[in-house]
Amino acid sequence: MKNVILIGFMGTGKTSTGKMLASKLGCAFIDMDQKIEEEAGMCIPDIFAQKGEAHFRQLEKDLVERLSARRNAVISTGGGTVKNPDNVAAFKKSGIIICLSASVDAVLERTKRHGTRPVLDQADQGDRRKAVESLMAERKDLYKQADFTVDTSDLSPLQVVDVIVRFL
Ligand code: S3P
Repeated sequence: MKNVILIGFMGTGKTSTGKMLASKLGCAFIDMDQKIEEEAGMCIPDIFAQKGEAHFRQLEKDLVERLSARRNAVISTGGGTVKNPDNVAAFKKSGIIICLSASVDAVLERTKRHGTRPVLDQADQGDRRKAVESLMAERKDLYKQADFTVDTSDLSPLQVVDVIVRFL
């Protein structure tokens, strides 16, 4: 099986959907953020704070290269992994790219705990909605590179899995 790669904005359900999708397909599940944290021995907010975003993006790119050499996995990416065109090209070669999208309200609800999403916390300036809206607009075209998109705003992860399986 080719890899199934889940891309999409923060709070669109990539991790919870990915886990369930992998168990339904009977294949491995890899959560990129979790793997980066394990390998760095540090949580993502600490990587951003102590080493900077550029360092995090390099760790992300190194991991994409390694993951693209394997098959038979569902891979949940971080919301910003698609910012690097090399990452998208590597994913295109090794798998099918599915984008999970969600409304601004759903994303706000799902990412309301501050301190876990440094990119949002940095852009926040006291107005979380504006931060989400402008980052989403900025990244809209990047997420359009997917082979298929599912709007998860009003769906449970299980329902999202069903939609993806039907597409596959
Ligand atoms: C990021 C999203 C995060 C994580 C990091 C950067 C982004 O992943 O990779 O904080 O730039 O959108 P999630 O999409 O899983 O929150």
